[in-house]
Amino acid sequence: EAELYTVYKGLRVPSLLHTPKSLKYFEEFTFRQDDIIIVTYPKSGTTWTQEIVPLIMSGGDPASVETVPNWERVPWLEEIQASTYNLEQRPSPRMLTTHFPYNMMPPSFFEVRPKVIYVMRNPKDVFVSSFFYHRTASFLVNPGPQTEFLHKFLDGKVMFGSWFDHVKSWLNAEDKEHIMHISYEEMIMDLKDAVGRMAQFLQKSLDPEVIEKIADRCLFKNMRKNNMSNYSIVPLAFLDQTKSEFLRKGIAEDWKNQLPVAEAEYFDSVYKDRMKDVNYTFVWD
Ligand code: PPS
Repeated sequence: EAELYTVYKGLRVPSLLHTPKSLKYFEEFTFRQDDIIIVTYPKSGTTWTQEIVPLIMSGGDPASVETVPNWERVPWLEEIQASTYNLEQRPSPRMLTTHFPYNMMPPSFFEVRPKVIYVMRNPKDVFVSSFFYHRTASFLVNPGPQTEFLHKFLDGKVMFGSWFDHVKSWLNAEDKEHIMHISYEEMIMDLKDAVGRMAQFLQKSLDPEVIEKIADRCLFKNMRKNNMSNYSIVPLAFLDQTKSEFLRKGIAEDWKNQLPVAEAEYFDSVYKDRMKDVNYTFVWD
């Protein structure tokens, strides 16, 4: 673990993707007010939103989602490749991604206050998705037995720290007008509605047919076929999708199939305690 992860301001990040140089690039990044930032705790719907937002901004034109890999289309600012994409030259509005909690955003973020779409997901499903992902990615620690990984997850001893701290940080953010909170579960329940609301937040007026077309393209069964978004072009040595696909199941409440009752109950007890000071109605509660 010591080799695979770097501890950055108290948070574990995978060393292969995040170097002191890339983290410095993140810290010094200059935002523009019309930037659009997708923010997530890992496994909460990042890739999905990296498909939806470009389609909204292009008015439904699929050219970029068909030709540009998601990590270049909506790059993670903290990742090693970010500085190679010439983001300073990209035309506005730029689309960017980060997995960092609110309090770790760079100074420019708080000066400029760009638009943020913060996607959150039932943490029991985040855990399950993450467990499978850790078994396929060679640059992440081996999760070990599920119970062991569950304790690490609940203690925040995983990449990007505690789910609880992350979600609370973005729910308690100041200037909420520039932040849209949406859940993976709302996207599952009614994708057309979710796309419509995102478009509205991004001040992009789209015809209902366009919204419908975007939502249809982004359905799990359709999106998983997009090689620019399903990570199939990543070498097996990094991501062994023969063990578990990146776009694995794409459903809500898979935890019911994966967590024994006692583990789910333990999870709930920790959740209840850690979330008692949160004033927000989650779809999954
Ligand atoms: S990462 O590594 O943080 O970028 O992962 P992230 O993309 O946030 O999360 C991966 C999970 O999102 C699911 N996914 C989708 N679900 C429904 N519809 C669509 N279109 C979709 N695209 C991605 C993906 O399948 C992972 O969830 P699980 O539960 O493992 O299937």
